[in-house]
Amino acid sequence: TILIVDFGSQVTQLIARRVREAGVYSEIAPFTMAEEAFKRMKPAGIILSGSPAGVPEDGSPRAPQMLFEAGVPILGICYGQQVMSHQLGGEVRPGHETGEGGEFGRAFLTVTKRCALFDGLWEEGERHQVWMSHGDKVTKFAPGFEIVAISDGAPFAVIADEERRFYGTQFHPEVVHTPDGGKLIANFVRHVCGCAGDWTMAQFRETKIAEIREQVGDAKVICGLSGGVDSAVAAVLIHEAIGDQLTCVFVDHGLMRMGEADQVVSLFRGHYNIPLVHVDATTLFMKGLEGVTDPEAKRKFIGKTFIDVFEDEANKIGGADFLAQGTLYPDVIESVSFTGGPSVTIKSHHNVGGLPERMNMDLVEPLRELFKDEVRELGRELGLPDIFVGRHPFPGPGLAIRIPGAVDRDKADILRKADAIYLEEIRNAGLYDAIWQAFAVLLPVKTVGVMGDYRTYDYVCALRAVTSTDGMTADVYPFDGKFLAQCATRIVNEVKGINRVVYDYTSKPPGTIEWE
Ligand code: XMP
Repeated sequence: TILIVDFGSQVTQLIARRVREAGVYSEIAPFTMAEEAFKRMKPAGIILSGSPAGVPEDGSPRAPQMLFEAGVPILGICYGQQVMSHQLGGEVRPGHETGEGGEFGRAFLTVTKRCALFDGLWEEGERHQVWMSHGDKVTKFAPGFEIVAISDGAPFAVIADEERRFYGTQFHPEVVHTPDGGKLIANFVRHVCGCAGDWTMAQFRETKIAEIREQVGDAKVICGLSGGVDSAVAAVLIHEAIGDQLTCVFVDHGLMRMGEADQVVSLFRGHYNIPLVHVDATTLFMKGLEGVTDPEAKRKFIGKTFIDVFEDEANKIGGADFLAQGTLYPDVIESVSFTGGPSVTIKSHHNVGGLPERMNMDLVEPLRELFKDEVRELGRELGLPDIFVGRHPFPGPGLAIRIPGAVDRDKADILRKADAIYLEEIRNAGLYDAIWQAFAVLLPVKTVGVMGDYRTYDYVCALRAVTSTDGMTADVYPFDGKFLAQCATRIVNEVKGINRVVYDYTSKPPGTIEWE
């Protein structure tokens, strides 16, 4: 086990993720609780995270001194390196005092000496790309340490005390912009700390089940299903932990993809035998969306109505103390602003934001530390069918935001058919898993066409497909022309109401993935 001491860096969870990828279990403890966590966990190693604070600042966080005397290997990252240097008798000075600026972004370091952290990876004299983000720096290192790598802006890019097995990196090995970072962390947890590296998602499942049982006791839990992967995985996991103390509520807004509402129902009732309330609220949603053309107004209406319907059902069920949600780590980061200023709302994504406050219930969020691909892995581990687990992300407001302008039942039906044909073609071509998201959009534009001897005057359908790792940025998927022509032909021939198909070539930024 590895103890990660959190000093408040935005990317602490990425450290945990890299440790998981190395097959080792870790727990994150805020620096204020690190001593207690250490005594409870008896970890084989400790990683000290970065921080928005600076070591020279008054009141900035410190690690419990006992951690340095416990005889356990330590890796200090960025602030972690500085705080370790400072607490062990070195000196850290603000960038502005040393007359040199900090380093932010991509940097290169040169390895000056071998050390256990670099085993089988980096050799003396080599240069490697890393990601730096620091203003302050270590100006005098603590007794026992030596320099093993330097960079232009940081003479102490990596320091090591091989005897005590203490290491410090000025850069961030946990981010993807440090290409070898995952391997360095794996070296630390496996070679230096001697962890076996055999931890798996199966063990995550066991640990979480125990935690859920402890948190919930014999209370009742309700869980809102969206039809997506996250809420489904959370529900199945919680059901495994507490059985029929869990009730799921699936609010069906009638804006799902083809066949998906039925799939959710049969998966939960048929496959897992999990108590499920299926509320078909299509009429309510469609009526409320009548004449609503503004994208934000659509999102707000759908979010609010979802909560209203869910709350009604929860009251009918009665007596639940906990609300379960499939919150993932990226949702957690996005909901906290580290920028200091108000961030601009591009789209109000939070589908059911406000639900927990309104329901006044405690939350059960077993996926809070996972990333999307890890949730998929956990879903497979729990036996969810591949077609469900591997599904492209789908926005909470559903097809409503893929129909620019006013939404109605007919348009939703037309779009659903076109979308299903497009996805079927993508699956048949074996491209589904290479694409982050692919979908059709129904434009509120009619154009003239000719079919047989007749003039047609119908809607335009736009196709979109992007690659991405997190939805924050995206590239257009470069289909070949033949493939797109095949999709266009099938859609125009098979879907009444569409007579023209176009392909969206816009990356994100400047476009967004969804059209609204
Ligand atoms: P955009 O369109 O902002 O989308 O580039 C980025 C990712 O977020 C999804 N998305 C949403 N997901 N509720 C959601 O749960 C929403 O309101 C919402 N809007 C966009 C989008 O599908 C893409 O994966």
